[in-house]
Amino acid sequence: MNILTIEHLTRVYGTGPTAVTALDDVSFTVDAGEFVVIVGSSGSGKSTLMHLMGGVDRPTSGTVRLQGQDIFARSDEELAVFRRREVGLVYQFYNLIPVLDVVENMTLPVLMDGRAVNEDRLASLIQTLGLTGREHHLPNQLSGGQQQRVAIGRALMNAPAVILADEPTGNLDTKNSAEIMALLRSSNRQLKQTLIVITHDEDIALMADRVIAIEDGRIVRDERRA
Ligand SMILES: Nc1ncnc2c1ncn2[C@@H]1O[C@H](COP(=O)(O)OP(=O)(O)O)[C@@H](O)[C@H]1O
Ligand SMILES: [Mg+2]
Repeated sequence: MNILTIEHLTRVYGTGPTAVTALDDVSFTVDAGEFVVIVGSSGSGKSTLMHLMGGVDRPTSGTVRLQGQDIFARSDEELAVFRRREVGLVYQFYNLIPVLDVVENMTLPVLMDGRAVNEDRLASLIQTLGLTGREHHLPNQLSGGQQQRVAIGRALMNAPAVILADEPTGNLDTKNSAEIMALLRSSNRQLKQTLIVITHDEDIALMADRVIAIEDGRIVRDERRA
């Protein structure tokens, strides 16, 4: 079943002679539950694509449809709600709020949405993520790997349709990278969570169902594993 449809997506930054076409007429679809890795050299347009899929930025032209809905048909306010409810974003540098503890960071998007925290889900995520006993630690009291687990927990709290992770292990050592990828992969496999990961790491690419390679804002390879 199709979950994500990207059609003729183009993003040009700036205007006139200094304009940069970061994404150039990109189209592809993703099935529900797929684990897709996006690879490409620095500056190839990977983060631009991720920001558009996550509704963080608007395209110059083209569409992104998630579960049949054109996400850019929404107003900015509706798009903010979309980002909190329907996608889970994970970044290289975690993007946690420094003055909030583990539980507060994980539940912030739910509370900002004016909704009640699902305490069972929170407790089960804290356990799965190995954060038991760290519930009231601040980000600077945690290791990088633990901070990324909190960011993953925050992304998973709303049970989003898609998890989008932009170089989630880019700042971690080998052991923590492997643990973070194991967590993402198990939520992909066990919860049938659709997972899209940008990475430079060949080992991560080998774990995926499918690898999409981008160069100069265009898809140059799209391979599904048997
Ligand atoms: N906000 C921006 N303003 C202008 N140019 C940008 C902006 N963000 C990215 N770019 C440019 O767009 C291209 C693609 O960037 P990006 O999507 O970040 O690539 P990647 O994540 O693959 O390294 C690069 O040439 C980059 O310099
Ligand atoms: Mg990038």
